[in-house]
Amino acid sequence: MALEQTLILIKPDAVQRRLAGTLLSRFENKGLKIVGLKMLQVTKELAAEHYAEHVEKPFYPLLEEFITAGPVVALVAEGPEAISVVRSMMGSTNGRESAPGTIRGDYGVSRQMNLVHGSDGPEAAAREIPIYFKPEELVSYESSLGDWVC
Ligand code: PPS
Repeated sequence: MALEQTLILIKPDAVQRRLAGTLLSRFENKGLKIVGLKMLQVTKELAAEHYAEHVEKPFYPLLEEFITAGPVVALVAEGPEAISVVRSMMGSTNGRESAPGTIRGDYGVSRQMNLVHGSDGPEAAAREIPIYFKPEELVSYESSLGDWVC
């Protein structure tokens, strides 16, 4: 059971809809440990770095417009197999197809405005976390919950 860190973005639609706290709570309630947290405005340059593998895709202009439209909350969550745990909590890309019980399934009907981003694998997490967080912005602390949550 690998202890992993993953990048999560609470996207502009979720911030505008006052869902940031609700979504943060879902990750905390799951038992993930928050080790980095900030609010920021994504610039076009930052978007292109983050979504480098998608910049040539036809949907990229829409993705860029959306992700730069307002502030996001960026966090790094840590836990056993945190990357796949977060991905399964998010649901599939399109909210209309996401299962109830997932974040996108519970809160969205849009493909573009889909509330959250989560790194899609260990390589992506290792690449994305330093885009948003300097090493000194990540914290390390003992969880008082210890073995009770994992
Ligand atoms: S792909 O091509 O299968 O890799 O794409 P996918 O993993 O589904 O999505 C990659 C990111 O692009 C966003 N996306 C879109 N944005 C706007 N419009 C359209 N049509 C669209 N399709 C995909 C999608 O939300 C993914 O963003 P993140 O932040 O990684 O979830």
